[in-house]
Amino acid sequence: MTTAGVPVGSGEHGSPPEPGPLGRGPLRAGDRVLLLDAKGRRYLVTLTPGEEFHTHAGPVAHDQILGRDEGILVRSARGSRYTVVRPTLSDVVLKMPRGAQVIYPKDLGPLLILADVFPGARVLESGLGSGALSMALLRAGAEITGYEIREDFAARARANVAGFLGQGALERYHVEVRDVYEGVATTGLDRVVLDLPEPWRVIGPAEAALRPGGILVAYLPTILQVSTLRDRLARSGFGLAETVEVLQRSWHVEGQSVRPDHRMVAHTGFLTSARLLGDAASGVMAADPGEPDGSPEHDGGPG
Ligand SMILES: C[S@@+](CC[C@H](N)C(=O)[O-])C[C@H]1O[C@@H](n2cnc3c(N)ncnc32)[C@H](O)[C@@H]1O
Repeated sequence: MTTAGVPVGSGEHGSPPEPGPLGRGPLRAGDRVLLLDAKGRRYLVTLTPGEEFHTHAGPVAHDQILGRDEGILVRSARGSRYTVVRPTLSDVVLKMPRGAQVIYPKDLGPLLILADVFPGARVLESGLGSGALSMALLRAGAEITGYEIREDFAARARANVAGFLGQGALERYHVEVRDVYEGVATTGLDRVVLDLPEPWRVIGPAEAALRPGGILVAYLPTILQVSTLRDRLARSGFGLAETVEVLQRSWHVEGQSVRPDHRMVAHTGFLTSARLLGDAASGVMAADPGEPDGSPEHDGGPG
């Protein structure tokens, strides 16, 4: 049997086996690994005894990898070298099969902080798309109720979550195929996290479903959508609204050649957060990072 970089959760070989405990220790059957070639190309492979990963330079036998530690070098039949490591969440998000556009790793990290996600947090997430955001939330310890309008995307998100975090993670991932604009059928939530076109239509249901002080975060690709959302938030029980855009510029560092990379991901989306404050919502404003109160100096930071 052969595989050629089977994508996470593709279901091609049925349900993936449970990944190794905490992703530590020697690599074992069912573990997902990343093979990196000399040109930096990356291939995601699920280790299965007796199988081979096929490359342009001949096959790499999974048995060469099984039982060994991360960081090893293996060779294909015609001598190409591959470094083997377990993939990070970021690797998987960028490589996994997608039905819908995923939230990029550069935005996932800040989103977790803006939403202040903590272990055991009760989160409503909608829509689920390919499950990238779900993975980040579950990894941070959240208990998710997920509303997704499309059955195929709901199934894909569950498969991607199980493929990366193991079947056990599904106990904290309650996916329902439903339209979130029609209402939220739960209360006492800590967080509402939205990645869909008209999040302002969820403000009313979120006010009813969140506990006081709960946080709503929405990811939106265009500033006109952000403007509409902020306008509706300003007329709701949510306060302390903030909108940020995350710019990430990587650098080329090689000997004396140290400079920003020529290319970067110029735009992905905007993150807007707000807190449920009820009657107090209009009385407080989010801190302006340019004001003394919000400056690093004032907080004992650098400088
Ligand atoms: C951009 S994708 C979400 C991607 C996801 N955050 C990720 O990181 O993989 C938007 C999703 O919202 C879903 N959606 C759109 N409108 C919806 C609604 N009213 N209720 C529930 N889901 C909805 C779409 O089907 C789609 O899967």
